[in-house]
Amino acid sequence: MTTLEDAKVTPVVLGGVRGGPSVPTLRKDRWWIQPVFTVSVLAAFVAYATWAAFVNNNYFVGAAQHRDLISPFYSPCLTATCVPGSHPGSIITWWTISPALLILIFPLGFRLTCYYYRKAYYRSFWWAPPACAVSDAHGSYSGESKFPLFFQNIHRYFFYAGLVFNTILTIDAIVAFRQPGDGLGFSVGTAVLLINATLLWLYSLSCHACRHLCGGGVKQFSAAPIRHRIWKTLTPLNAKHMVFAWMSLVFVALTDVYVRLVASGAIHDYGFHF
Ligand code: FES
Repeated sequence: MTTLEDAKVTPVVLGGVRGGPSVPTLRKDRWWIQPVFTVSVLAAFVAYATWAAFVNNNYFVGAAQHRDLISPFYSPCLTATCVPGSHPGSIITWWTISPALLILIFPLGFRLTCYYYRKAYYRSFWWAPPACAVSDAHGSYSGESKFPLFFQNIHRYFFYAGLVFNTILTIDAIVAFRQPGDGLGFSVGTAVLLINATLLWLYSLSCHACRHLCGGGVKQFSAAPIRHRIWKTLTPLNAKHMVFAWMSLVFVALTDVYVRLVASGAIHDYGFHF
């Protein structure tokens, strides 16, 4: 009979140090897949969004194609240089470069300061640490108390801005039912804008700052029944925040791709009118 004393003993090394010991981890699983995936998707998104924001064309499908579709990267289109029909009026006349650069700071700031994305990119890009039980690549840790990371604390204000943009993109999705020259209708483009707005709302409503805003700081839920109800509704969404973060990130880029392909004439936006 084999006793505990006879069993082969696996030495356990505890207490890895910051700055990376010679053996960074004892883990044998493929812990690196998640950081590699995160780096790949985020880098691809940033590269695509940067290109789409600077290219300054094919962001609107208008009356010539019996559609009213605008890319989320360019909405609201507020400058005098916007494609005719894509904006409510020449609100900002002094801005002469891409109108996307004027507004993208808000949704990008919201994502950049998101609590989930911080974890993702601190781990994947900064290796601080890259995964559980894998040593940190840095010798010290100051949290988010110093420049520039203390700017992460303005996340709640980007959350408020995000709500404004979600409202605008929801209006865009409703306006997409308009098919100039044909009346009202529904197309693949309408569905794409609707799904995009829905995912962005799910991302915002599952935000940690949103949950805290609705139910945080309450000492006694029985004394705040409405806030308690809202908090209970948001909590299951909050548990899926990571999923909504990725889905909305990928889909917002796909929405731009779809509008771009239709606007450029590469594909037709199939649909019908009532
Ligand atoms: S925590 Fe992710 S959007 Fe607020």
